Amino acid sequence: MAPVEDTAGAGIVAIGAYAPRHRMVNDEWAQHIDTSDAWIYTRTGIKARHIAAAGESTAMVAARAGNLCLEAAEFDPAAVRWVLVSTDTPEMWNPATACFVQAELGATRAVALDLTGGCSGFIAGLALAEARARLGEPVLLIGCEVLSQAMDWSDRSTAVLFGDGAGAALVMPREPGRPAFEIMNIYARTDGRDADILGKPYGGTRNPLTPELVREGHHHRIVMHGPYVFRNAVTKMAEAAQAALEDAGLRLEDVDLVVPHQANQRIIDALTDRLKIPRDKVFSNVEEYANTGSASIGIALAEAIAAGLIRAGQIVLTVAFGSGFSWAASVWRVTGVPPVRSELNRGPS
Ligand code: UT7
Repeated sequence: MAPVEDTAGAGIVAIGAYAPRHRMVNDEWAQHIDTSDAWIYTRTGIKARHIAAAGESTAMVAARAGNLCLEAAEFDPAAVRWVLVSTDTPEMWNPATACFVQAELGATRAVALDLTGGCSGFIAGLALAEARARLGEPVLLIGCEVLSQAMDWSDRSTAVLFGDGAGAALVMPREPGRPAFEIMNIYARTDGRDADILGKPYGGTRNPLTPELVREGHHHRIVMHGPYVFRNAVTKMAEAAQAALEDAGLRLEDVDLVVPHQANQRIIDALTDRLKIPRDKVFSNVEEYANTGSASIGIALAEAIAAGLIRAGQIVLTVAFGSGFSWAASVWRVTGVPPVRSELNRGPS
């Protein structure tokens, strides 16, 4: 019998990334609350974050990244079949943020859905995108957060950690000769027993907002047990990275570049040490954007490509951890470097 060629598969064929124009450095935080550039930088590696302008909503930020991604691919928005927006800071309760994005992009044939997957939502979303793309349906996956609207600006233990932005990926069926991050494997897990440890618990049906709760500031309260989140982020990302590689028949030594979720440089360093990967193989830009939740991987990919760190023939590993708890990793073979367009408004380094 003649061998059957395995044509199934999907990959990322373009990346778009956007960060708002206003760049807020640590010293600016020190004017609002009892903190300092030294504390923030030594505990997190963060120097700046980008903050959405007044009236710049999640859908606007997501659509900007989505547009840049489609432009990079020179792809007709009407040919997109799915617009998936991974966000924990939605446009509104209902309808989904993705509906506004779909309209803005002119993705007239697309189904638009949101995913609330925490900081690992982009990779979990990629698992869903891959499944549809394999069937021949182009998927625009966007990770987007406007955390500056969700957080409590007077809470120094959380506010200084976050930033706004969006990263988008066009996921398409495998096409020989087309530069892509070919998806070799995705590993994703959730442990909802830790759902109360990290999140924004008020305003939903479990804890509806009342005027009293708003007066007490619960409408923007982010709950986070920092050290417990830190420990779990390191161990769970290590687990995901190893499992994703093993299932793909690869070892850590085979990986050319790791693009982790950008939450805290100390978490990235601890993960790097735990996995015994050389530091120059691990990409980081948390210094410039802080933690942008599900947007961080798309933004990091855009910058890693622009810096020339990703080349044809390489193996790239991406890994993330966030609320849920949820954690995920994905392994890609670089058949060629996908086109990128970004508008990241980076400050002086
Ligand atoms: O994607 C997941 C999202 N979340 C995360 O990734 C967070 C993971 N956790 C972390 O990154 C770290 O736990 C933090 C950066 C949040 C905190 O670092 P830490 O080394 O665990 O500090 P800590 O929470 O133990 O706090 C140490 C001290 C406390 O003061 P006392 O009680 O020792 O007097 C805090 O009140 O630092 C104080 N502190 C601050 N001081 C100045 C907390 N936030 C600040 C601040 N500026 N912004």
